Amino acid sequence: MVISKKILITGSKGQLGSSFKKISKAYNYNFIFTDKSDLDITNFDLLKEFFKNNKIDTLINCVAYTDVDSAEIKKSICNMVNYKAMDFLSGLCEKFNIQLIHISTDYVFDGKKDSPYNESDFTQPLNNYGLSKLQGEKAVMNHKLKNSIIIRTSLLYNDNGDSFVRKIINKIIKGESIEVVNDQFSSPTYADDLAHAILKIIPLISNNITEIYHYSNKGHCSRYDLAIKINEFINGDSKISSTKSKNETTVRPLYSVLETSKIINKFNLRLRHWEEALEEFISNQNFILNEI
Ligand SMILES: NC(=O)c1ccc[n+]([C@@H]2O[C@H](COP(=O)([O-])OP(=O)(O)OC[C@H]3O[C@@H](n4cnc5c(N)ncnc54)[C@H](OP(=O)(O)O)[C@@H]3O)[C@@H](O)[C@H]2O)c1
Repeated sequence: MVISKKILITGSKGQLGSSFKKISKAYNYNFIFTDKSDLDITNFDLLKEFFKNNKIDTLINCVAYTDVDSAEIKKSICNMVNYKAMDFLSGLCEKFNIQLIHISTDYVFDGKKDSPYNESDFTQPLNNYGLSKLQGEKAVMNHKLKNSIIIRTSLLYNDNGDSFVRKIINKIIKGESIEVVNDQFSSPTYADDLAHAILKIIPLISNNITEIYHYSNKGHCSRYDLAIKINEFINGDSKISSTKSKNETTVRPLYSVLETSKIINKFNLRLRHWEEALEEFISNQNFILNEI
């Protein structure tokens, strides 16, 4: 009898976590899904007990403090979730010989480059969210893990949560006019695509030192271009105008496009263009324009 790998997905009620839940039936793994209510990763005693009592082969950590604006004010909880808890969790993975797949962000970069960032490019976060995620990466790398990776991704969306894509969709459904910045560039990434890619590569990862990979849908755009495409795919008639990033309290990188050839070549993956993924995502939703 073949016993399938036991995969723990933490943060399963978030965007990426919920994508894993949605697609899990297509894979021959034994999944355990937890969320903040049953496995708060800042509760170290609970974590210790959990890993003592459950034999886990692979941990896919989808937990993060992701509210970039709040992270400027609530620094301590952001650092606890994105950095200190990741240090503790990686220590448990080392102790119990668990493969760790950890997710990080394009916001570890300062956005001053004018070509896609590769995995070894210099990191220099501009905000506390990016800094806490970078510290989380370093904490993971400091532990001796096997067959483990960190995947940096960008501008995630699916049918769950409070993503930029969903915010724009909601405004278009209500017929609102929208003003969007045209000077922040990145690659929108459908969380279902990332979840599929991770489940495909899990058995192929073989290393003794945690490696970093970049994953996003192909191509890139400004947030304004993205809003225009969403409006087009929904058949909306919202007036969408462009603006420049203003002097806001949270500074975001202006250009955080990720170079993805390392993950494509290593695992023979096919990445879709962001427009193709977005169009499919939108065509699977039941929008009723001007009725919310
Ligand atoms: N969203 C993006 O555009 C984006 C871009 C680049 C990289 N990423 C990275 O991609 C990963 C997945 O992001 P996502 O968009 O799926 O995030 P998300 O939707 O915000 O989900 C994060 C989940 O973690 C949970 N959580 C927070 N604190 C927790 C704790 N102490 N213990 C257990 N669960 C906790 C949250 O629960 P509550 O909601 O109840 O707090 C939420 O369900 C993250 O590592 C993020 O940094 C995201």
